[in-house]
Amino acid sequence: MNGLRSLMQPQSVAVIGASKTPGKIGYAVIENIRTSGYAGEVYPINPKEEEISGYKAYPSILAVGKPIDVAVFCVPAAVSLQVADECGRAGVKHLIVITAGFKEIGPEGRELENKLVQTARQYGMRITGPNNLGIMDTHTPINATFAKNFPIKGNVAFISQSGALCVAILDWSLKRGLGFSQFVSVGNKADLNEADFIEAAAEDPNTKVVCLYLEDVVNGDRFIEAARKATQKVPVIVLKAGNTAAGAKAASSHTGALAGSNTAYDAAMRHAGVIRAATMTELFDLAIAFTTQPIPKGRRTVVVTNSGGPGIVASDAVETNGLIMAHLTDASTEQLRAKLPPTANIHNPIDVVGDAHADRYQIALDTALNDPQVDAAVVLLSPTAVLDIKEAAEITANAGQAHPDKPIVASFMGGEAVEVGVKYLNDHGIPTYPFPEPAIATLRGMLKYRELRDAVAGSSEWTFADVRKDAVKAIFDKVRADGRSLLLGPEAAEVAELYKIPAAPSKLAKSAEEAVAHAEAIGYPVVMKIASPDIMHKTDVGGVKVGLTSKDEVAEAFDSIMAASKKAVPTAKIYGVEVQKMMPKGDELIIGMTKDPTFGPMVAFGSGGILVNLIQDASFRLAKGLSEREVEEMITETKAYTVLKGFRGAQPDDIPALREAIGRVAQLCRDFPEISELDINPVFAYAKGVSALDVKIKLQ
Ligand code: COA
Repeated sequence: MNGLRSLMQPQSVAVIGASKTPGKIGYAVIENIRTSGYAGEVYPINPKEEEISGYKAYPSILAVGKPIDVAVFCVPAAVSLQVADECGRAGVKHLIVITAGFKEIGPEGRELENKLVQTARQYGMRITGPNNLGIMDTHTPINATFAKNFPIKGNVAFISQSGALCVAILDWSLKRGLGFSQFVSVGNKADLNEADFIEAAAEDPNTKVVCLYLEDVVNGDRFIEAARKATQKVPVIVLKAGNTAAGAKAASSHTGALAGSNTAYDAAMRHAGVIRAATMTELFDLAIAFTTQPIPKGRRTVVVTNSGGPGIVASDAVETNGLIMAHLTDASTEQLRAKLPPTANIHNPIDVVGDAHADRYQIALDTALNDPQVDAAVVLLSPTAVLDIKEAAEITANAGQAHPDKPIVASFMGGEAVEVGVKYLNDHGIPTYPFPEPAIATLRGMLKYRELRDAVAGSSEWTFADVRKDAVKAIFDKVRADGRSLLLGPEAAEVAELYKIPAAPSKLAKSAEEAVAHAEAIGYPVVMKIASPDIMHKTDVGGVKVGLTSKDEVAEAFDSIMAASKKAVPTAKIYGVEVQKMMPKGDELIIGMTKDPTFGPMVAFGSGGILVNLIQDASFRLAKGLSEREVEEMITETKAYTVLKGFRGAQPDDIPALREAIGRVAQLCRDFPEISELDINPVFAYAKGVSALDVKIKLQ
């Protein structure tokens, strides 16, 4: 366990500020450690006491004189630095700083927190917190928190950025019968953060699923690295709160306006193989299912019900979740026909009908789960007076035992009447829900984990060796030396070409003669555009002329563009006029990049042209680690894909060329972190090849 073994399974724990006074945190922590059955050494530290909670107390941690793995801080922030220094001198490995009054209270607290980290670093100690509830490991066992409850021993690790949520979930879990392996309140994450605890939980033999409540991620790269590794072993589910589009508002590029910080979290989680839960309910629905049921091998789902309506609701949910209503084999159908009454529906959803006794559930479940064309089962029950609900629950749980390779989820609908069955199912590891939809959504979530995990396992970054990094660097240096952050059109087109991103040939002309010479070299027809970083909407000021086909037209265009632009924006710095080859019309797309403060460059692809912000058809992935398969997904998940495939008999576009262009844009953004914005809008896609028409690159 990444060095956190001594935190989660310590040999010895000191509680600094342990107290004899009930109601104080120092009292709660030491009592929790004692009552959790912790078998290691416990050292209460309190200058005024000889003994606390039955343990010998010491006036200072320096007085203990024995190795100490963990020191839990229950003393005020004002003494925390001094206490941390003493811990360092005493050779303590981990500090759990429950104390509040750090970063969360403002600049003063932030400074104190920084000093605390410095002190810890000086002695090689790690910090959990500050401003947290503490940690628990039910298998050690240890409860080094001030929570009211200690969870049932189980296999779910829960890592939370909210201490209050921890205590609420703990209380709920006892009622629900959900067991935990580890419980970690990360607090301010001054040192150890979610990535460290994900790693630790994934390596913990008692953990089968890792759940997180996060408000932010400290270090995007570290998180992805840790999560990608962890998800190969166990499912990782994240509920990310505080999703805003504030980041999107701040962005000036098309790509930036299409994205938001939420998009970056989505892209990051997917890239890491992490399931993102939308609600707390979904988070724990999945956690329960992952610890009790096998992961479905495929989408083919069977529904067993004793009433028609819920069967239809469930069939709808199967479809809307992207699962498939299993098509039973003829043998199964025959078996059901032979054993069920003629009123039953022997096709999926299998309806054993309202007068069913529990034995019909047995017949239906046995047949369905033995069917090779079934991957998972949903058991629905409406309470009737003729049905023994407990017996139906037993049959369902037994079917689960008999088919450990296929997941079963249940919805015994109702309240009091089904309670006995619901309890039995919960106690016997069959996830059960008040209504069919969440049952089916859970199956979908489990399958999604399998898909994400396999995708991560088979993916590596798509890189190109034939790019001209030095030449691009020289262009960027030149732009910066000129005091600009925005590249001129011809410079941006050259950068694209150096990375083999096909761009329409483009040259800068400083005079009408030069413009003619460029046009002759490029070949007619050409487009001419004013080259000035100060003029954003070139067309509006008369700074664009298209379809020029002769020397005379080009010379005339040069003069008129210069005159119009100078008149419209007299203060603009004008570099000349860009002469660009006029490309034939293709399908209009956009390839872009926007920067996320946590996860770095994100590549975008979607429908392009002037309506890009209106259509909002874009897919996003992290540039770092972007694989060829991910690029393929980016394309196929947009509406633009319908057009690319050849809409209404049109010839399909060159998708491989498009894919490569996206891959190369990602590499450009990875190679040059100084690119703050990149937009290629439009990119024309043709039956053969693609062409970047308007490349906009902005440096930091
Ligand atoms: N070494 C050892 N013990 C010390 C000490 C030192 N250097 N300095 C003080 N103590 C003792 C005190 O004498 C006291 O013991 P006592 O009860 O026997 O008198 C004990 O440590 C606690 O100190 P006290 O000054 O009484 O603090 P407190 O208990 O009122 O508050 C905290 C301490 C840590 C609980 C408080 O500062 C705090 O941060 N509360 C918020 C915690 C929180 O919400 N965290 C986030 C949760 S999600």
